[in-house]
Amino acid sequence: MAITVTGLTKEMYIPSEMEYKKILDDISVHIRFGELTAIIGKIGSGKSTFIRYLNGLSKPTNGTISVGNKVFGFRSREWLQQVGVVLQFSQQQLFLPTVREELVYAAKNFGIDLDVNLLCQKIGLDESLLEQDPHLLSGGQMRKVAIGSVLSANPRILILDEPFAGLDWSAQFELTQLLQQLVSSGIAVVIVTHDLSFVWEYCQRVLVFEQGRIIVDTDSRSWIESSKHGNEETIGYSRFFSQLNEKKINVDSVRKWLEEQEERN
Ligand SMILES: Nc1ncnc2c1ncn2[C@@H]1O[C@H](COP(=O)(O)OP(=O)(O)OP(=O)(O)O)[C@@H](O)[C@H]1O
Ligand SMILES: [Mg+2]
Repeated sequence: MAITVTGLTKEMYIPSEMEYKKILDDISVHIRFGELTAIIGKIGSGKSTFIRYLNGLSKPTNGTISVGNKVFGFRSREWLQQVGVVLQFSQQQLFLPTVREELVYAAKNFGIDLDVNLLCQKIGLDESLLEQDPHLLSGGQMRKVAIGSVLSANPRILILDEPFAGLDWSAQFELTQLLQQLVSSGIAVVIVTHDLSFVWEYCQRVLVFEQGRIIVDTDSRSWIESSKHGNEETIGYSRFFSQLNEKKINVDSVRKWLEEQEERN
C-alpha cells in the first residue's frame, strides 16, 4: 500500500461563522502503488486541504497517515521525499531565483543525481527557460516547473492538484502521457481534477469528496457509467484522445490542422 489514511480529521476556526468546523471529517482511504487515483468533488469540498496532509507538512487534528506501511514524524525528510505534492497554485511552491535552481533543489537536498536536460524533456519544458525567473513565466510554464521540481526528488507517490489548469491541450496530452509512464513504473499517482473524461480514460479509481468526507471510493469507469456523468460528451472526448495515442498521431500536427481550419472559416 502506498498511503493508508485512517480517521483523518481537521478542525479549523471559521471567522465568518465564529465557530470551529470540520474541514476534513474522519477520512479513511488506501492509495495503491501502480494506480492513478482521481479526487473529484465540488468546489470547497476539501480536496486541496486533504492532499496538503499527505506529505506530512501539516498536522491534522486527528487521524494517522502511513506511507508504504511506515508512520513518519511530521515534516520528516523521508516523508517529504517519498510523497511529492504539486499544489493547485504553482506559484506557491516556487521560491528560487531561476528555473534551473527550482528544478535541482529537491534532488540536491536528497542527494539524487539529476540530469536537468532530461528532466526538461520529461516535463516538456523548453530548456531556454532554465536561467529565467520562474515567477515571470506563464501559468502553464510555471506549472511545468512545479511538476519538475517535485519529480526531481524521485517520489514514490506523486500528488497533483488540478495540474491541467492553464495548460493548452497538447501540454495536457503530454502530461497525461507522463503520468501514465509514472504509473506503469509502479508509482502511485493521485490527481485532483474536474475533468471527468480524464477520469474515465486514465484513472483506475475515483474518490468523490463532499463536505470534507469521501462519499464514493470505487473504480472510476463503473462510477461514471452508473452516474449522470456517463454521457456521450465525457466518454466520446476521452476516446478521441486515446485514439490519437493508439495511432501514435502527433498532437502538434492535429493542432496545426485545427488552426488551419479555423483560419479558413
Ligand atoms: N486555513 C483555512 N482556514 C479556514 N478555512 C479553510 C482553510 N483552508 C481551507 N478552508 C476551507 O475549507 C474548505 C475546503 O477548501 P479546499 O480548498 O480544500 O476545497 P477544494 O475542494 O480544493 O475546492 P476547489 O475545487 O475550489 O479547489 C473551504 O470551505 C475553505 O474555505
Ligand atoms: Mg482545491
